Amino acid sequence: MSRRTKKEIWVDDRFTFEEGQGEFIFTNKEDNSKHIMEGFEVVKNAKIALYDSMMEQEKDQANAKKQAQERSVEMNLKELEAVFNKYPSDKKEHGYLPFYAIHLPSREKKFKLLEIGCDKGYSVRAWREYFPNAEITILDLHNAVPEDLMQGKNPVEYIQGDQGNEDLIEYLAAKDFDVVIDDGSHNARHQWLTIEKFTRPGALVVIEDLHCNTEKFFTHPPMEFDKTPLGQIKSGKFPHAVDLYLEKIAFIQK
Ligand SMILES: C[S@@+](CC[C@H](N)C(=O)[O-])C[C@H]1O[C@@H](n2cnc3c(N)ncnc32)[C@H](O)[C@@H]1O
Repeated sequence: MSRRTKKEIWVDDRFTFEEGQGEFIFTNKEDNSKHIMEGFEVVKNAKIALYDSMMEQEKDQANAKKQAQERSVEMNLKELEAVFNKYPSDKKEHGYLPFYAIHLPSREKKFKLLEIGCDKGYSVRAWREYFPNAEITILDLHNAVPEDLMQGKNPVEYIQGDQGNEDLIEYLAAKDFDVVIDDGSHNARHQWLTIEKFTRPGALVVIEDLHCNTEKFFTHPPMEFDKTPLGQIKSGKFPHAVDLYLEKIAFIQK
């Protein structure tokens, strides 16, 4: 934002403009480079024009960036919908895809993804197709992962185990996953374990179906709602940066 002072005639985010001896000096705050121009009125007008054009450029750049972001989120969503139409995981039914389109890494990225909860393998198939370069690991209580997912190009790693087992979760956390999606038991204690062990700088932790935090079955033994992940997010006491959508899905980052 610009402001006028007596000595520094204009100050904005990038430059300070000062009146020198019969000249005009403006200093780029980023690299401290100084630019000297002569002729007060001429320079003043030139500077104002420069300032205006910078503001215009900045606005144009911000708009272009916003449009590009919107376009890429839109494209992500289209492509996510295309794969999830083939593999009917309930992520689509729950309305989660638009939020995945915002938060997930770009399709081509090489990164490590863990999904807790496989069921019939629909989401695993969708992730495998959507992220051709991702290393995918699946954790499920039951031996449920279809054989073909562990074979061929881009095989997934399957670990059979209980997400409530702290030793197992610590073992997995040591693998430094970039994205962790918890679509397993939906038990509030298990969700806390996921949040606690996998949240680290640069990683994205997604907890699905937080509405289960209001149901006794999923918070057994009983836990006060305030203490559940959803309760903590809603009361503003959650320990990490979080985007909550539909009161059901949270995207967490440190
Ligand atoms: C909702 S389904 C997963 C759906 C799948 N992610 C999809 O979108 O197609 C939940 C899965 O979590 C698994 N699960 C339940 N309790 C678990 C636990 N304690 N540890 C690991 N997996 C568990 C179930 O066996 C089931 O396969």
